[in-house]
Amino acid sequence: MRYFWIVSDAHPPELLITGDGSHTIRRGAGPTYHSLHGALTESRHIYQEAGLRALLEFRSQNPKAAVDGGEKVRILEIGLGTGLNAALALETCLEAPLLRIDYTALEPFPLSPGWMMDLNYASFLRAQSWQVWAEQYPTLYEGLRTQGEGAWSLERVGLAYSLKVMAQPWPCPLEGPFDLVFWDAFGPSHAPDLWEEESLVALNRWTAPGAWLVTFGASGAFGRLLKGLGWEVQRLTGPPGKREIIRARKP
Ligand SMILES: C[S@@+](CC[C@H](N)C(=O)[O-])C[C@H]1O[C@@H](n2cnc3c(N)ncnc32)[C@H](O)[C@@H]1O
Repeated sequence: MRYFWIVSDAHPPELLITGDGSHTIRRGAGPTYHSLHGALTESRHIYQEAGLRALLEFRSQNPKAAVDGGEKVRILEIGLGTGLNAALALETCLEAPLLRIDYTALEPFPLSPGWMMDLNYASFLRAQSWQVWAEQYPTLYEGLRTQGEGAWSLERVGLAYSLKVMAQPWPCPLEGPFDLVFWDAFGPSHAPDLWEEESLVALNRWTAPGAWLVTFGASGAFGRLLKGLGWEVQRLTGPPGKREIIRARKP
């Protein structure tokens, strides 16, 4: 049986302003969705710069690592949340000629469109990417609500971005393989299972050889688990308030 759960609108998340002026949210007694030092700064630093842009740069210097001539990146995000990482990937796509992104995200507790519209990301993202992303979200959410998954795509001359969101918790069966993983569910204190071996064994199954993973999580235990599965683990300087982040590469 398919699993999905849409959270009731009766308990709206709390909207918070972070250190760089961008919003994040918190639900009940749960953790905030982003760093309070700066939600946008954190997402750009980890997922857009150390993740997507660095992978594109790596491919341009290592043509054998490319997929479909180098311009296609299949991204898997664990924890869509506000959609900020997905919209930043769209921004990269809109600004990079020839880039094609297939973006799959898991989110067992999708935000309803009204909550999404309250976020102030339109004034921070370039190329109108938040507006474009947010405009399609009500239709995507309707698919999530009624069928447990929603999809949307944008094609313009020289670029293509396709998005599929599944209202499922990780781990679950997927249509992989993926080249880049945004490991952005809650941390080990709130979602311990996600940071354990079984979860990473599932990740190995759905990722392509040479795939990258980026995450805000930098625990020694998580790094050792990745290494134990053969991934090459790098520790990079984190965004404000976070000493280190992990970027890992599958052999
Ligand atoms: C840190 S927030 C995500 C931030 C998000 N990437 C963004 O840009 O807003 C963590 C998200 O992971 C989701 N989540 C919790 N457990 C999960 C699971 N097992 N699989 C996938 N997502 C999960 C939460 O509902 C929450 O939306």
